[in-house]
Amino acid sequence: MEDGKDSNVLTRTNQPRVLPQRLLHLLVLFLVLCVTFSVVSIYTIRYFGVYNAVTTIRPRLIPCNSDEVRNLDEWMKSQSNVMHNLSDNELFWRASSVPRIKRYPFKRVPKIAFMFLTKGPLPLSPLWERFFKGGDGRYSIYVHSLPSFRDDFSPSSVFYKRQIPSKVSEWGKMSMCDAERRLLANALLDISNERFVLLSESCIPLYNFTTIYNYMTRSKYSFMGAFDDPGPHGRGRYNDSMLPEVNITDWRKGSQWFEVNRQLALSLVEDTKFYPKFAEFCKPPCYVDEHYFPTMLTIQAGNMLANRSVTWVDWSRGGAHPATFGGADITEEFMKRVYEGNNCLYNDEPSSICSLFARKFSPNALEALFLIAPKFLGF
Ligand SMILES: *[C@@H]1O[C@H](CO)[C@@H](O)[C@H](O)[C@H]1NC(C)=O
Ligand SMILES: *[C@@H]1O[C@H](CO)[C@@H](O)[C@H](O)[C@H]1NC(C)=O
Ligand SMILES: *[C@@H]1O[C@H](CO)[C@@H](O)[C@H](O)[C@H]1NC(C)=O
Ligand SMILES: *[C@@H]1O[C@H](CO)[C@@H](O)[C@H](O)[C@H]1NC(C)=O
Ligand SMILES: *[C@@H]1O[C@H](CO)[C@@H](O)[C@H](O)[C@H]1NC(C)=O
Repeated sequence: MEDGKDSNVLTRTNQPRVLPQRLLHLLVLFLVLCVTFSVVSIYTIRYFGVYNAVTTIRPRLIPCNSDEVRNLDEWMKSQSNVMHNLSDNELFWRASSVPRIKRYPFKRVPKIAFMFLTKGPLPLSPLWERFFKGGDGRYSIYVHSLPSFRDDFSPSSVFYKRQIPSKVSEWGKMSMCDAERRLLANALLDISNERFVLLSESCIPLYNFTTIYNYMTRSKYSFMGAFDDPGPHGRGRYNDSMLPEVNITDWRKGSQWFEVNRQLALSLVEDTKFYPKFAEFCKPPCYVDEHYFPTMLTIQAGNMLANRSVTWVDWSRGGAHPATFGGADITEEFMKRVYEGNNCLYNDEPSSICSLFARKFSPNALEALFLIAPKFLGF
């Protein structure tokens, strides 16, 4: 029993001694391993330059191409050639990115983007060239034409290399709005563009550059024609499948020749909410280019719209298309008619300047327009 007891005691007293010894061995082994590993690491770093390898990888990420942008000036510099290979999806996405710091870290002179939506040539371009002589770097030009058309402006022209990648667009169809959004998106890429005006090849300016520039840049409102027409050509074109995005009370009509500020230009380009509704439920005889932008902006930013256009047009001859004026029409009486009878609000005050542009003028009107320009157009 005693032996048994003793052996019992022995085993009881021996066990605590054995365990710490094993633990100690393990600990020592662990420590040795740690130290060895550290020493090995230090030596590898020193002799094989593991850190050096990491730091030499970094410079490879810095572009060695000398054309790459290295300072803000270069990056902000407006493009001298607006041609690119972006798809519409890529372009619209790029154009919808906005700086979140409101203050510009450089002197930003707001520019007006003149966006010409044309079929091909710009027959009135000599008149516009003269107009832009007063522009002094405060404008940029974008031209959307048939994709097959290639202009032949000389390097001295303000229209040189201002043609953007274009697609076929048809009146009254969504492809027309697509073209307008394409113009807006390209113009948004230049951060200096603050106002965006849509023009056609048959448009002329009615004032000198300075007057038009001040009128636009000092306006509280954007000039989008938008009115509620209760008749068959207005509300009659509404389809209630557009609910809930578009209620008939918001349905607006207006000419496509708009002028918008940067914020609204961005809304038009980034829209994915209203676009599918208009694309699906506003097909001829609903002419989407007369309804999409006015209705959408009325819903999103109605208080920023002047609800009138700044482009004069003559509907007095009746019919589906406004009157076109040729050389024989351009008389002093005619020009007085274009400017007179103006009563509109500008920044909520009555103004005598209501239209900044006029359409439609045929190519043979150019010479007559040149002659009356100094007296009437002011340039
Ligand atoms: C667009 O792509 C074509 C063919 O890949 C190329 O020749 C052309 O230079 C590109 N244009 C621009 C503006 O990058
Ligand atoms: C532009 O026209 C306005 C009024 O029509 C005139 O006062 C101004 O001097 C003109 N500016 C230039 C630069 O010709
Ligand atoms: C609305 O559009 C749908 C689908 O295109 C069409 O079936 C329906 O007749 C239209 N409704 C009206 C009132 O035009
Ligand atoms: C459309 O808007 C009007 C007034 O804003 C409202 O009374 C009406 O219920 C709306 N219609 C629908 C179908 O939501
Ligand atoms: C334009 O119309 C909208 C409503 O459609 C209105 O909120 C806005 O005040 C109008 N703009 C002006 C300048 O009256």
